[in-house]
Amino acid sequence: MINFLNADAWVEMKNTPSEKYHLIITDPPYMKYTSRSQTEGEHAISGVFSPTDFDRFAMNIFRLLKVSRHAYVFTQFVDQDKRDIYGMTLHALKKAGFVHNQTLIWTKRNIGMGTGWRAQLEPILVLTKPNVNQGVSAYREFAKSHSNLLKDFPSVPAERMVHPTQKPVELGVFLIRQSTDEGELVLDPFAGVGTFLLAAGQIKRNVVGYEILPEFWKKGLYLMKHFV
Ligand SMILES: C[S@@+](CC[C@H](N)C(=O)[O-])C[C@H]1O[C@@H](n2cnc3c(N)ncnc32)[C@H](O)[C@@H]1O
Repeated sequence: MINFLNADAWVEMKNTPSEKYHLIITDPPYMKYTSRSQTEGEHAISGVFSPTDFDRFAMNIFRLLKVSRHAYVFTQFVDQDKRDIYGMTLHALKKAGFVHNQTLIWTKRNIGMGTGWRAQLEPILVLTKPNVNQGVSAYREFAKSHSNLLKDFPSVPAERMVHPTQKPVELGVFLIRQSTDEGELVLDPFAGVGTFLLAAGQIKRNVVGYEILPEFWKKGLYLMKHFV
C-alpha cells in the first residue's frame, strides 16, 4: 500500500505516534524547491533547511523509527552557499541518538550543475536507532553484504525525469531491500515525486510519504499510476 499525501512533513510527523516505522529513507530539502504548473500558472516554493531544521528533522525521524532499525538519509558535502551539509546533518542525527553505521557513496552517471568542482557523487548516511537495553550492536542485520560504493545504478530515464533531485527507483529498491521485509512500513517525509514510495511499492512494502508542493505531488501520483 502506497500512501502519498500532499502535506507538510513537519505537521504530519508531529502527529504520528512514536516507533511506527520499520525504515525511514529520505532526501531532505537542503535547498529551496520551486514548482510551477504550466496549466494553472501556479508557482510554489518550499523552504530551505534552516540550521534548526537539522535538529528538528533528526529528532522527528529518531522518534518515529522502531528500535534497532535503519534510516537512510541522503546528503551532500557542501551546498551552493558552502554550508557543510554533510557535517550538520550527521551531527544532528548523532545528537538525536542515532548510531552512524556507514556512509554510502552513490556515484552518478552525470555531473551536477554549477561551475568549478561539480558534484558527481552523493553521500548517503546509514543510521541505526540503537537498542539501549541490548547495546548499540543489537540492530537488524542488512540483507546482504555490499560495498559502500554504489555505482551501477542507471540514471532516471529522461521521459520520467520531472523533479530536479529525482533519484533512480532502482537505487530506492536496493536500499529498502537491504533493511526491510515484505509487508513492513517505510516512511519518506520529503518525498518529492515519490521515488522511494514507488520503489517500496514495487517490492511489496507499505509506505507513507509527504510532499508539500502540489505540482511535485501530482507528478508523483502520475508516475505511480504508470510505473508501479
Ligand atoms: C530532495 S527533494 C526529494 C526528491 C525525492 N527523493 C525524489 O526522488 O523525487 C525534497 C522535497 O521535499 C519537499 N519539501 C520541502 N519542505 C517540505 C515539507 N515541509 N513537507 C513535505 N515536503 C517538503 C520539496 O518540495 C522537495 O520536493
